[in-house]
Amino acid sequence: MPSLIRTLKLPSGETVPVLGQGTWKMGEDRRRHADEVAALKLGLDLGMTLIDTAEMYADGGAEEVVAQAIAGRRDETFLVSKVLPSNASRAGVKRACESSLKRLATDRIDLYLLHWPGSVPLSETVQAFEALKTEGKIRHWGVSNFDTDEMENLVGLPSGGNVQTNQVLYNLSRRGLEFDLAPWSRQRRIPLMAYSPVEQGALARNARLEAVAARHNATAAQIALAWIMMQDGVIAIPKAGRQEHVRQNAAALDIALTAEDLAELDRAFPPPTRKRGLEMI
Ligand SMILES: NC(=O)c1ccc[n+]([C@@H]2O[C@H](COP(=O)([O-])OP(=O)(O)OC[C@H]3O[C@@H](n4cnc5c(N)ncnc54)[C@H](OP(=O)(O)O)[C@@H]3O)[C@@H](O)[C@H]2O)c1
Repeated sequence: MPSLIRTLKLPSGETVPVLGQGTWKMGEDRRRHADEVAALKLGLDLGMTLIDTAEMYADGGAEEVVAQAIAGRRDETFLVSKVLPSNASRAGVKRACESSLKRLATDRIDLYLLHWPGSVPLSETVQAFEALKTEGKIRHWGVSNFDTDEMENLVGLPSGGNVQTNQVLYNLSRRGLEFDLAPWSRQRRIPLMAYSPVEQGALARNARLEAVAARHNATAAQIALAWIMMQDGVIAIPKAGRQEHVRQNAAALDIALTAEDLAELDRAFPPPTRKRGLEMI
């Protein structure tokens, strides 16, 4: 069990843990349902109280898994969900949010994200988010899969400065955003939420990470998480449907990577030397 969960402040001033829980692929298979609910509950027990989901995941099925996991514990959970770009119009956002609230069996989403940039004018989506805030159906909003130019555009819109996070693909094998999006976000104190922090399980089988892990009596996945949690202004949201993985992920908070480890990781996974387009899964 980690000694203490580390936290960071969102632009709103609210404190959230730097390690949360993802839910993509949950709710797809009835046979795994009980294990998924149990895994999320264990994560809450261990302090991973930020739960990330989306209307897209299992066509709403992941939100239903989350509802069961947080039943009776809503107030200790920081709930993040996402609206699809195809629902990002003024009326569409409201409808999508109300459906998510029903599936989540709650009266509010703490942080509601636009899943990726789409064809609805962003200013319309922002106004829809602001209206939901006024109604109390969401507390905050943010975006996902936005590159630097898209973030620049967003913060220039009326109320655009209320964005709380940008959720992006970020892990040791996907460091392209360190060239400009990460420094841009840090400078404006807009946290990045790193999705697929273990590259959908691939980094858990990486030999270079296993070599570092051996020095810490840890696993490769734990090293990938320890590394991402060291990045300033970053929240990681690994998905784990197995309780053993949830325990390992929480324990990654206690791993202190050394300068030698970090140099070795930089050699194995070099940081970018030029601008690359933001990657997406
Ligand atoms: N905004 C977006 O566009 C976007 C895109 C992708 C993901 N996301 C969000 O980010 C979350 C995380 O990303 P992800 O699910 O793509 O990938 P991920 O968290 O990098 O990897 C999940 C996979 O890694 C395994 N795993 C977790 N902890 C492990 C450990 N300690 N040791 C070994 N294996 C471990 C899981 O296995 P088990 O499940 O069997 O435990 C699962 O197969 C998603 O669930 C979702 O909430 C957002």
